[in-house]
Amino acid sequence: QLVRHEDYRAPDYEIVATALEFWLDADTTEVLAELRLRCRLPEPPEYLIFQGESLDLLELRLDGQVVGADRYDLLDEGLRLHHPPQAFTLNSRVRVHPATNTQLSGLYAADGVLLTQCEAEGFRRITYYLDRPDCLAPFTVTLHADREHYPMLLANGNLEATGTDGQGGHWARWHDPFPKPSYLFALVAGRFVVERDHFTTQSGRSVALEVYVAERYRDACQRALDSLKRAMAWDERVYGREYDLERYMIVATDSFNMGAMENKGLNIFNTKYVLASPETATDDDYLHVESVIAHEYFHNWTGNRVTLRDWFQLSLKEGLTVFRDQEFSADQNSRGVQRIADVRRLRAAQFPEDAGPLAHPVRPDAYAEINNFYTATVYEKGAEIVRMIHTTLGPERFRAGMDAYFSRFDGQAVTIEDFLSALEAGSGCDLQAFMRWYAQAGTPRVEAKWQQDLETGSLSLELSQRTPATPGQADKTTLPIPVRVALLDRAGRRQPLRVGNDDLGTETVLMLTQPQQDWTFTGLHEPCVPSLFRGFSAPIILERSDAVLAEPFLARHDDDPFSRWENFQALAIRELLGYIAEPTRALPSGDLREAVAAVTSQWPEDPAFCAELLTLPTEDYLGEQMEIIQVDAIHAARESLRRALAMVFGDTFMAWYQGLAGTYQLDGLSMGRRRLRQVMLSYLLVNDRLRWEAIALARLQYAEADNMSERLAAYTLLVQDIHHDSEDLLMDFYQTWRHHPLVLDRWFSTQLGREEPATLHRAANLLVHPDFDWRVPNRVRSVLGAFAANPTVFHAADGSGYRFFGEQIRHLDGINPQTAARLATVLSRWPRLDAQRRGHMQGVIAELARKPALSRDLAEVLSRCQDAA
Ligand code: ARG
Ligand code: ZN
Repeated sequence: QLVRHEDYRAPDYEIVATALEFWLDADTTEVLAELRLRCRLPEPPEYLIFQGESLDLLELRLDGQVVGADRYDLLDEGLRLHHPPQAFTLNSRVRVHPATNTQLSGLYAADGVLLTQCEAEGFRRITYYLDRPDCLAPFTVTLHADREHYPMLLANGNLEATGTDGQGGHWARWHDPFPKPSYLFALVAGRFVVERDHFTTQSGRSVALEVYVAERYRDACQRALDSLKRAMAWDERVYGREYDLERYMIVATDSFNMGAMENKGLNIFNTKYVLASPETATDDDYLHVESVIAHEYFHNWTGNRVTLRDWFQLSLKEGLTVFRDQEFSADQNSRGVQRIADVRRLRAAQFPEDAGPLAHPVRPDAYAEINNFYTATVYEKGAEIVRMIHTTLGPERFRAGMDAYFSRFDGQAVTIEDFLSALEAGSGCDLQAFMRWYAQAGTPRVEAKWQQDLETGSLSLELSQRTPATPGQADKTTLPIPVRVALLDRAGRRQPLRVGNDDLGTETVLMLTQPQQDWTFTGLHEPCVPSLFRGFSAPIILERSDAVLAEPFLARHDDDPFSRWENFQALAIRELLGYIAEPTRALPSGDLREAVAAVTSQWPEDPAFCAELLTLPTEDYLGEQMEIIQVDAIHAARESLRRALAMVFGDTFMAWYQGLAGTYQLDGLSMGRRRLRQVMLSYLLVNDRLRWEAIALARLQYAEADNMSERLAAYTLLVQDIHHDSEDLLMDFYQTWRHHPLVLDRWFSTQLGREEPATLHRAANLLVHPDFDWRVPNRVRSVLGAFAANPTVFHAADGSGYRFFGEQIRHLDGINPQTAARLATVLSRWPRLDAQRRGHMQGVIAELARKPALSRDLAEVLSRCQDAA
């Protein structure tokens, strides 16, 4: 049963005020709701439906009177009230059962704590409500609980009053003055330590900052607090946005379906994105904490103050907020390296989604289960659309547009059209064409051709675009594509850009708005090479007719870091695909070898960037370049190239490994050194001559590191080296970290990266390990996610990997459908597999689809996978 965008109807009623009272208990919690409702139509409708799911209704009153059984029905979707008055107060009393709520949606119990997750439609699992984002109300929430088990009682907004109940009970009342939709509601009850700080806003108000964690995590909150303060200052400086409540709370839990949630004034986070200490967190973890803390904070304006009319607009808050957090991180760290990481992520997750059975527009047209649309397309491609608009307008006009957006729509639930029209009003530019990026699925291809006439000094550039068909969208339209360009001479110097009489500086943005367009640059008497889509100015696939000549040049000389990396990758891809077609070729070829030699000829001043250059494209990304993914050949080719590079550059790599060592610090340069050192070590381990020395160095690094980054790097390389016996390391790591869930997740996942058939049995054994827990999504992902990411084992030619995976998904669906459905999306890769594997994977999909009592979440993913056949 599909919900369709075109069927949107404004709600018949508004909720003027919501008052909730909870008697909290893990087994049975009672919820009393008082809703003041007012009809928005001249005449009240026949009936009004309040959404509700898994609720035991105890009592229902309308304006104080008990509602008779003939006045309402209980349906699958909730409670239908007949003949609602024009204005009335509805009181309901329901029971819910947090301890058995393994879906982790609504109110649930985890680790002795009671907490909520309401986005997207979890609030209906707490009480009967108009559970839709366009229904905003101020909330007053009173929490009662046992003081011993739940000494802290938190909800959104400001704390108004507290008190004691008889016999060891206590209560707290919270009021959130900002009207909000139910998906932003949160409550938390439990025992925590609180790490505190404060922030003074630009207008001089002091905000209390509080991070709530389990006692054992007390020392790991600094990074989160520090990131939060930087995010608050950044949003003031870059967008003029100030925080609006007296306090900002963050609660961390080990049991969470997603990364984090922006509930008003009371964020709830997966511990993975809050905790960081040198002993337990890697450098990447530190960066993730910084960006997710910022992301949830930025939602206070893009999502909360201005919210969504309906769930089809999801990217209005997510795409925009991802763009904002990416820019924040770029300002905190290295902009070039940040952009490379963002594009890498887009290509690893979103491009395959856009090219397969699950392709959908950034604003989908229909859904069965909205949780299935928290996708890379909505988030990451959505962020790219905002970035293209930013690129098109430039920073000042973009800011003026955003100012108009906030001032027009503060306190409202709006659409993507509203967003674009406010940006237009503020910037004075026509942005209507960008609407097509929201409506059209699929990754566009842009073809580039050019010629230069040295005599006349003119260079003409011809660009054309096309977007391949996607499921349900056969015909594609033309998109507005911003192309950031520069022209480089033989020494890599940018040349002045003249088009007609316009002087465009040495870098400019061309707008490709037609199926095909050309531009002529004049005054160029030195041979030039165009550097195109600098900074990845649009989420497209570039096909350049001059690739063979341009890539080696740009891989060495492009002054745009993204573009240089891009061309370096392109060289490696060409090399690998060439080898797969003709495995007798010598590796590495001249071009790649020279490009690597250019990097290694001097000491790495920017080690993080060098690490990006010297990391070969992943097997998955190589697979994306092929019509039919040749799983085994890709693995073999990549390993051969790694070995070949290691042989040629082994001595430099060893010297760098030694020379990059340094004391542990958390600045960008130190992080970059550690990252590059790890890349060096990975090459040294496949250098026949240096291997034994490298193993000894890796073991020493594992044993002596004073931080998780270096320890885990060495550990991962050794454990995933199938020719090395690392059982002693596995034991040691387990013994050392068995009581730290996030690190223990790594113990589970790392061993599943071993590319050998025996890993299947390992996975089966881990599922019955005493520390495995089906109810904790992080732990489940550390086994099933890691398993599906192992090409050799998951894609075993006999289908054993798919069948094993399918059985686990089937089991998980009975426990946590949301996480099951998300993990199951890897089954959408079948169209690109060879006939044998394709048959096996389709068989697993069909088998799963026959499961009785399949969740709506998983059913939708499977049926979309099947529809594409
Ligand atoms: N709004 C959250 C974020 O991106 C994501 C929460 C999604 N949760 C869910 N169950 N769909 O910051
Ligand atoms: Zn978000």
